[in-house]
Amino acid sequence: MEDKYRTFAYDYDEFGRIEEYLGAEKVFFQQLFSEKQVRTVLDCACGTGQHLYMMSEMGLEVVGSDYSEAMLEVAAKNLAALKKEIPLAQCDFRYLEKIYKEKFDAVVCLTTALPHLLSEHELLTALKSMKSRINDGGVLILTQGTTHYTLSLPSIEVVVNRSDFSRVFVKEQKEGIETIHVLDLYHSLKRTENNQYDIVYKIILDEDYHRLLTAAGFESIEIYGDYDRKPYDKESIRLIVVAQ
Ligand SMILES: C[S@@+](CC[C@H](N)C(=O)[O-])C[C@H]1O[C@@H](n2cnc3c(N)ncnc32)[C@H](O)[C@@H]1O
Repeated sequence: MEDKYRTFAYDYDEFGRIEEYLGAEKVFFQQLFSEKQVRTVLDCACGTGQHLYMMSEMGLEVVGSDYSEAMLEVAAKNLAALKKEIPLAQCDFRYLEKIYKEKFDAVVCLTTALPHLLSEHELLTALKSMKSRINDGGVLILTQGTTHYTLSLPSIEVVVNRSDFSRVFVKEQKEGIETIHVLDLYHSLKRTENNQYDIVYKIILDEDYHRLLTAAGFESIEIYGDYDRKPYDKESIRLIVVAQ
């Protein structure tokens, strides 16, 4: 499998520094983890480490894995700079049991990471692998920005707008696949450069999650439309799955 983040990794954090995660997301995890008595967490698509840092700050025992060596390299650097010692491993989330023999109270796969898998078969393999690493009574959490509502928005979106840098998403949809062309435009005296990264996602919505998670053996499946835990509907700006 190709590492789609091989070069994007090194500029990924133009979204924001990993310690500057949104307050609402932090409150969501704090409440959920306290309700479900979660103490140990595997972030199986940890990217540059933002949720590992957030959860470690909450006092949880966290470990992170990702398919991309480049993302892991950036995560290691970010976490070291924040004085966090968090175990990281290269691992495809379809085969977590190859690296992790232990189980966790929660497995998380956040910010539109699972939809990188483009077939039902691969998705099911990944969800079963995630389930295999969750303790009895534990929880799986998936989050994504693709929703019925966001799919209806104009195809061009400015997601970072600074005086020295702009990140623009140009989105296309075809036959159940969404391609996001990420255009990074550096426009300062120090750096003038344009880069394009193309991210391809399978469009997975609430009904698909119910079907896939049930097939993978999950019994309780809740789908929220935002971090305030209001139920997902056609106007939601986020899709958050909590499955047990
Ligand atoms: C959009 S990024 C999100 C990263 C991070 N979760 C965040 O919130 O910033 C998606 C991540 O999923 C990872 N990924 C994609 N396919 C994967 C796979 N099969 N196994 C493990 N990680 C994968 C990518 O390498 C990338 O780091």
